[in-house]
Amino acid sequence: MLFVKKHIADRISAAAPALFCGAGLGADSLLELLEYPPDSSMGDIALPCFKLARTLRQSPVKIAQALAGCFEGDGDVSAAAVNGYLNFTADNRYLAKTVLGQIAAEGEKYGSPRTGEGKTVVLDYSSPNVAKPFHIGHLGTTVIGHSLKKIHEFAGYSCVGINHLGDWGTQFGKMIVAYRLWGDKEKVEAGGCDALVELYVKFHKEAEADPSLDDRAREEFRKLEQGDPDNIALWQWFKEISLKEYSTTYRQLDIEFDSYAGESFYRDKMAAQLEVLREKGLLKLDGGASLVDLSEYGMPPCLILKKDGSTLYPTRDIAAAYYRHETYHFDRCIYVTSSQQSLYFAQLFKVIELMGYEWADSLVHVPYGTVSINGEKLATRTGNVILLKDLLAMAIEKVDAITKEKNPSMPDDRRAEIAEKVGVGAVVFYYLSNNRIKDINFMLEDALSYEGNTGPYAQYTYARTCSVLEKCGDIPAPRRFVAPSPEEHDLLVALSQFPERVKAALDFYEPSYITRYILDLCAAFNRFYHECPILTSGDPDATACRAAMTSAVNTVLGTAFGLICMKKTKQI
Ligand code: ARG
Repeated sequence: MLFVKKHIADRISAAAPALFCGAGLGADSLLELLEYPPDSSMGDIALPCFKLARTLRQSPVKIAQALAGCFEGDGDVSAAAVNGYLNFTADNRYLAKTVLGQIAAEGEKYGSPRTGEGKTVVLDYSSPNVAKPFHIGHLGTTVIGHSLKKIHEFAGYSCVGINHLGDWGTQFGKMIVAYRLWGDKEKVEAGGCDALVELYVKFHKEAEADPSLDDRAREEFRKLEQGDPDNIALWQWFKEISLKEYSTTYRQLDIEFDSYAGESFYRDKMAAQLEVLREKGLLKLDGGASLVDLSEYGMPPCLILKKDGSTLYPTRDIAAAYYRHETYHFDRCIYVTSSQQSLYFAQLFKVIELMGYEWADSLVHVPYGTVSINGEKLATRTGNVILLKDLLAMAIEKVDAITKEKNPSMPDDRRAEIAEKVGVGAVVFYYLSNNRIKDINFMLEDALSYEGNTGPYAQYTYARTCSVLEKCGDIPAPRRFVAPSPEEHDLLVALSQFPERVKAALDFYEPSYITRYILDLCAAFNRFYHECPILTSGDPDATACRAAMTSAVNTVLGTAFGLICMKKTKQI
């Protein structure tokens, strides 16, 4: 409702000097004071007059009353003074004309903050660790990361989505030892990631009884780093198996990456950064290992090289940040990981700053809370995990069964398509409904419910707009705007809030603003749908207007679904 806020601020600022003996009120500062009341019975927008009392040397009650006068005769906005507040209500015709006009003119671009033109953002997300399970702990980084990419693209940024695969590191030493001791080529080929994870879990179990296995694993990783051909071949093979499997999950989620440059990509790019670290005198030796002391900044040291000289996760991240800056000239580089890595990223960004890279302040960590599923926490090492692919498969299967029950004659392929869109959409929507930093307990039953604040409910509402529009056929655009009922008013208000919600999602890296918006819009549309007949309204102007509102909801829901990577379906 930014245009309504602007209208109000302009009007007040023009009238203020005459009302308050020459004292002026700036439109910009008024804009900041205007708020959305928690309850629509208090109007669409409110101005609390308490903050103005000091500047204008009058009581808030008096100010509100005086200001209410400036809206007399304003056909677009009406004002009521209530206890020091000024409550504004936008006229329905004004709302309808402006909002429906904007949506019709801008279509799928409606709501774009347009702040990203000419700017580049790199987003590092998903980034599973090869040969370790791709479990539901990765759901957060995958869907939050991709949603943030969509939101940035919508705002006009050029985006580079990078899957910083965990494809280097000691775990490959472990995998190589495990495979040579207990592995079987055919079994691994047939079993894919599951077979690799099984070996990984077995390694940890056995190493508890026989710690020498860990030494062997370190030795194998060292050989891998030195380019030992047998180890390289095995590593490559593990990686291929994993990537093949991830691709199914990414396809279901409709995610594509611009780059799969993972940790191994930086093998030959670390030496140059080690040189800078040394030159700047940042590296300290500690029992043979090299680290950067960060005690001055209240943080533990950042480990750069192990005793045996092998590199670590941070070493590769330093090289990666430098490479990305050189390659993409980013204005911002966003890392989406669990909040367990918040300290790590604070250390990393500090080290990069100390290295003298002036772009260090454009690195942003976007953390999220931990996931448990049906109350259970995850533990990779013991094998107590739920894989992301299994969670998606369960959701798809359940939706398929529900659809079959509701609609037994639907052809199998049609049903399969719907089940995938709605099942995967349910998981994504449920996950993104949460404020990202909060821990989440994933309850699949709740996510899949067709009632309540879920993905299926939102997709159902979208499908409803499609079927209404189909019935409407070619109703011409409204000539006059008539939208007399409160349900129409609320729907127009909801439609007009989209741009601000997108802006907030962008500014706070918070996709849940979009999911919550979707729920608000769906609720407003469903109330409208039940109360306001469209084809049988008896007034061609009302019918045209309601059809245009339905079309606007269809457009905006479609855009919003795209921003949280939920697919649209015309039938559910
Ligand atoms: N592979 C890591 C993990 O699963 C996440 C990588 C995040 N990105 C980065 N540049 N460190 O925990």
